[in-house]
Amino acid sequence: MSTFDLIAQDIEEYCEAHTTPEDALLYRLNRQTYLQTINPRMCSGHLQGQFLTFLSKMMRPKFILEIGTFMGYSAICLASGLADGGELHTIESNPEYEDRIREYLAQSPVGDRIVLHIGDAKEVVPTLEPVWDLVFIDAEKEDYRSYYDKVLPRIRQGGFILVDNVLWNGKVTQEVLRHDRDTQAIMEFNNYVQQDDRVRNMLLPFRDGIMMIEKQ
Ligand SMILES: C[S@@+](CC[C@H](N)C(=O)[O-])C[C@H]1O[C@@H](n2cnc3c(N)ncnc32)[C@H](O)[C@@H]1O
Repeated sequence: MSTFDLIAQDIEEYCEAHTTPEDALLYRLNRQTYLQTINPRMCSGHLQGQFLTFLSKMMRPKFILEIGTFMGYSAICLASGLADGGELHTIESNPEYEDRIREYLAQSPVGDRIVLHIGDAKEVVPTLEPVWDLVFIDAEKEDYRSYYDKVLPRIRQGGFILVDNVLWNGKVTQEVLRHDRDTQAIMEFNNYVQQDDRVRNMLLPFRDGIMMIEKQ
């Protein structure tokens, strides 16, 4: 199954075949998401999940913030790399997802290190105390800049932000339709980060594009 058209399906399948398989819980979570939700492509899935786990394990962050939980796949992957005593806070605006997220977290060995907040990240982020080592932004595309501006002051110097879907299926390189607010917002966000001298950034052409940002 190719999640995004940016990677050729045979290449993606080859990569998946040469990547440590999903553990049983993540496999089940992903399968059930495809069977039970309207937009299952929102789930990070195997390759991106492994990528997030690797980054987190290499970094061993104490405090991780995630904006956009969906079913909790990426939260579980990122929390696998937490330092001893660390916590991952994840924010989801859709209350209908809460029961399923909590069900998956209860089955995960890292579930007790994940704090779920149900609400709009734009309102929740300013209420959270930790100074973040790592932030993963993966929610409403039109609000990317707003999330970024709210979290950047709350990240330690040398901390990181990962922002998903910044290639938006390649649309950022094409002529944008006037009513396509998501593509416009992502392009504006990418330009904003590129001009921002508070950070160092790299747009990684992996899956749907991940903007990797280091706070200076
Ligand atoms: C792409 S999905 C997240 C996928 C998840 N990070 C993963 O990789 O498995 C985006 C999620 O963000 C949520 N969302 C949208 N706007 C939000 C907001 N303002 N605050 C918090 N969550 C939001 C949506 O309901 C949706 O579940």
